[in-house]
Parts: sequence; structure tokens; C-alpha cells
Amino acid sequence: MTKINENYLKLPGSYLFSETARRAEESAAAHPERKLIKLGIGDVTQPLAPAVISALHAAVDEMAAAETFQGYGPYEGYAFLRDLIAKYDYQDRGVNIQSDEIFVSDGAKSDCGNIGDIFGVDNIVAVCDPVYPVYVDTNAMAGRAGDCGEDGMWSKLIYMPCLKENGFVPQVPKQRADIIYLCFPNNPTGATATKEQLQKWVEYARSNDSIILYDSAYEAFISDPSIPKSIFEIPGARDCAIEFRSFSKTAGFTGLRCAYTVIPKTLKRGGVSLHDLWYRRQSTKYNGVPYVVQRGAAAVYSPEGR
Ligand SMILES: Cc1ncc(COP(=O)(O)O)c(C=O)c1O
Repeated sequence: MTKINENYLKLPGSYLFSETARRAEESAAAHPERKLIKLGIGDVTQPLAPAVISALHAAVDEMAAAETFQGYGPYEGYAFLRDLIAKYDYQDRGVNIQSDEIFVSDGAKSDCGNIGDIFGVDNIVAVCDPVYPVYVDTNAMAGRAGDCGEDGMWSKLIYMPCLKENGFVPQVPKQRADIIYLCFPNNPTGATATKEQLQKWVEYARSNDSIILYDSAYEAFISDPSIPKSIFEIPGARDCAIEFRSFSKTAGFTGLRCAYTVIPKTLKRGGVSLHDLWYRRQSTKYNGVPYVVQRGAAAVYSPEGR
């Protein structure tokens, strides 16, 4: 008999946000007179910027002509986009990230979930509490989270409380964690982390040989120049961190889908390059973001787009 992945049976009935959407709809139907304020999953509210729309139209026209048509693209994204990301999001801010360390993808959600493919099942995972549920559920699917208690907490995960008392930035745990998910600016609390706070995390990860999975999907909302937008602004992070970013919040791409993941070429565990493993994973399971969409993303970096 075909066996299923029984880890899925341990998951609560539905993904948190489908459940809150279902309950909101039910409540709205039952009480049409009530004004409903939804605090569940958000979405962008404005149309795409004109610079992006023009680039999309031009790229569609390219697809209509034999001389400019594009078929399968590079697994890791087109150089025209990766070069812009490296320059504007990193190098111009004094951060040493090269374009060949960037993997363009269809979403930070998929990357945050898929990255688990390159890590062993017996790693100890630490997450913030509260947390963007994707980190927890994807580790549960992989068998890394243990069992889910009645309180919704998983037996093998380390939960790091984010409370008013610690400014919603977790302390490094006393015990050892192999994989640590950090998200700043944070979903759901909105908290940001200072350089000093992130430095402690980098030191913890380096001394434990751990990996920080840093989700900075909301970096565009940082306006204070003293707050890091990237974990790679912290000395030593190239030896212990992977970063996820997205055009979803920065440029309203939630419906278009484009994001990227940064893995330094020098980042290794057990003597193995994590960059090479991720390339192997992506080139086997993924054929990349549509050319047209990547042209749209590139226009985000044009003067009008910015
Ligand atoms: C913390 C965080 N990371 C990633 C994502 C998803 O980004 P994307 O649209 O690129 O998949 C979200 C979306 O809500 C998010 O809140």
C-alpha cells in the first residue's frame, strides 16, 4: 500500500490563515449588520507602479517576436535582475553580497518553506512566539517539529517568547538550536531589531554552528537608518545566515509573485556549501520565475520604480 507522509496528519486542520478567513466569512454571513475588522492575512491595496506596468507590457511584446522570445530561463533568475538586487539592496548599502549569491523565486513563502529540503530532519529548530505560521507548519511537514500539543505548541520546537518586556525581540535561547527563524520587521508584531540585538544572534549562531533563516520580507518599511534592513549588515553573518526577501510588500507583487533568497557562496555546514545544495534543489524542483515578471521586478529599481 502506498504510504502517505504521516507528518501531515499531525498538522492542525488547516493553515492558520485559511481558518481565520473561513471564520471571518462565516461571521460576516451570520451578522451582516456588524462591521468586521480583519486582523488575519493582509494584502496590498494599490495597483502596480506605472514603471512596472510598462516593463511588463514591453516584456509581453518581446515574447511575441521570434528574435526576443524567452523560453526556460536560468534556475536562479536572470542576471539583469540579480545584478540590480545585488547593487541596490546590498552593495550600495555597503553590504558584501554578489549577484551570484542571489536566487530569484516566486515567493518568500515558498523559499522559507522549501529551504528545509537542504537540512537534516534531526535539526533542532527555534522560532519566535508568536510566529509567521509557515516556518512552523513546513517543519512539521518535514517531521522536524515533533507532535502538536493541545495548546498548539510543537514538542520539538524551541519557542522564543516575544513579549512587551523584551521589546518583542527574542533573547538567544539557553539551549542549542541548529536552525533559527528570525523575521524583522516582524510578522505579526511589527518589531524591528537593532544592530546590537542581531549581533548577539550572529554570535550565538556562529558559536553553535547554527544557521539563521532571516526573513526580511518587510524591510522596505524600515525608515530609521540605524536599523539594519539585512542580516548581512552584521559582521560574521555571511558565515551563519540565509536571507529571504520579497517584492510582495516592497512593490505590491503579491499577485505577480517574485522574491529572492540570498545564500553566501562561502556558507558551509559539514564542509558542504549550502549555496550549492540550494542550487541543486532549485534546479531539480523549480524552473524559475517567468521572464515577464522578472522584467517587472527589474523596473522596481528604475528611478521611476523606486
Ligand atoms: C514574514 C513573511 N514572510 C513571507 C511572506 C510571503 O511573501 P511572498 O508573497 O513573497 O511569498 C509573508 C506574507 O505575508 C510574510 O508575512
